[in-house]
Amino acid sequence: MDVLVAGGHGKIALRLLRLLAADGHRARGLIRKPEQAADLEAVGAVAVLGDLEADASLADYLQGADVAVFAAGAGPGSGPERKRTVDLGGAVKLADAAMAVGVRRYVMISSIGADRPQVASGGMRPYLEAKAEADQYLMASGLEYTIVRPGSLTDDPGTGRVHLSRELGGRGQVPRDDVAAVIAQVLDAPNTIGATFEVFSGDHMVAEAVRSL
Ligand SMILES: NC(=O)c1ccc[n+]([C@@H]2O[C@H](COP(=O)([O-])OP(=O)(O)OC[C@H]3O[C@@H](n4cnc5c(N)ncnc54)[C@H](OP(=O)(O)O)[C@@H]3O)[C@@H](O)[C@H]2O)c1
Repeated sequence: MDVLVAGGHGKIALRLLRLLAADGHRARGLIRKPEQAADLEAVGAVAVLGDLEADASLADYLQGADVAVFAAGAGPGSGPERKRTVDLGGAVKLADAAMAVGVRRYVMISSIGADRPQVASGGMRPYLEAKAEADQYLMASGLEYTIVRPGSLTDDPGTGRVHLSRELGGRGQVPRDDVAAVIAQVLDAPNTIGATFEVFSGDHMVAEAVRSL
């Protein structure tokens, strides 16, 4: 498969690109800073230069792809404005590009709490509102989507064991390693098309957990 990961230098993205490349896929990461290209090449991925905010369309980057993955984020240091331009705007632009060039499959890294942004406080609220709107746009797009909503991300080593739940409203943590492993598995799992689910650390092997969704 040819997989384009938007936000290609992100912490989950680099882990995912490494897994995909090791599995023989064409793993491509969209980055806006040329100096990050070497890090992608080091994990066996191809760097594609483009900017989710500045570029009017992402269609050229998606040519030839089988799947689009949205792994970008404005990050905790950003204000509400960039939640709109990256977390919402970038995700919407990627969906529009997928529709324009006929890429049917789209995997979104969303977040727990995106099912009820109205109860969030402080800086989390604009973030979760942006995530919720992006998810709604994707659900209405007609694309073959999967919306992956991890709990609080950690850089702890992955355990290969997770708890996945279509029932929303959970709380907990999960290593980025394990989220990347779940997404790699989702790409090969037709039962996840049209699914929205949360991801936490748990007891089930990733492949089995994804199969049982
Ligand atoms: N932190 C949590 O606990 C948590 C929980 C649930 C879900 N999430 C979500 O999980 C996802 C992945 O998280 P992560 O920690 O792996 O992300 P991350 O390391 O913060 O990476 C985000 C990436 O987005 C890129 N980006 C930002 N603006 C861009 C633009 N205009 N064009 C192209 N790329 C751009 C950044 O690149 P630059 O280096 O160019 O800025 C960065 O590489 C995010 O969507 C995040 O919101 C996070």
